[in-house]
Amino acid sequence: MNGAIFFSGKYGSTEQYANWIGDATGFPVFDIKDPNADPAKYEYLILGSSIHYFKLSIRKWVRSNLSILKDRSKILFSVSGAGPGDKLDRWVAASLPSGLASQMQHVGLPGRLDHSKVSWWVRKMLWIGSLINPDPEAGKEERYGFDHVDKESIKPILEMVRQFKHSEVPT
Ligand SMILES: Cc1cc2nc3c(=O)[nH]c(=O)nc-3n(C[C@H](O)[C@H](O)[C@H](O)COP(=O)(O)O)c2cc1C
Repeated sequence: MNGAIFFSGKYGSTEQYANWIGDATGFPVFDIKDPNADPAKYEYLILGSSIHYFKLSIRKWVRSNLSILKDRSKILFSVSGAGPGDKLDRWVAASLPSGLASQMQHVGLPGRLDHSKVSWWVRKMLWIGSLINPDPEAGKEERYGFDHVDKESIKPILEMVRQFKHSEVPT
């Protein structure tokens, strides 16, 4: 199967997941910043994106490649502090052009926030965010950081790829 992984992240956790999925599937992995990252060359796409400030960081790339993405089978994995649920689904749907979210399967993966890797300005923003976060647990994580990155969580994605391979009609 002619597939590839395209990811957008900033602090390394999305890239880590992309590489794990690449190792398990044999698909090449591209950072969307790479000028050679061309989704038109592949028929099956796995898109990976971090969530920053309630938005998918891959959203602009998705818009600029919309005509290519529309015609292909695809999976999206997001990487965030928030776990799977309505809130995450809303952020994902709002980041994508209308209709596209329903065309792809979405898996939310647990992320990592290491305060020593972000700028003082971002630390300040996170601290302010933690004070107004209505969820006290999420607020604590925002303030002190967290590491929930877990290789096991890619299993549903590997299963989707396996099923897609299985459904392909041999030519
Ligand atoms: C500036 C900043 C903003 C963030 N905003 C959100 C957010 O709105 N919702 C959320 O669930 N997680 C948020 N996070 C947590 C990230 O989604 C998490 O750290 C993720 O693992 C980042 O992926 P990356 O390491 O590939 O950049 C934020 C993290 C940072 C540093």
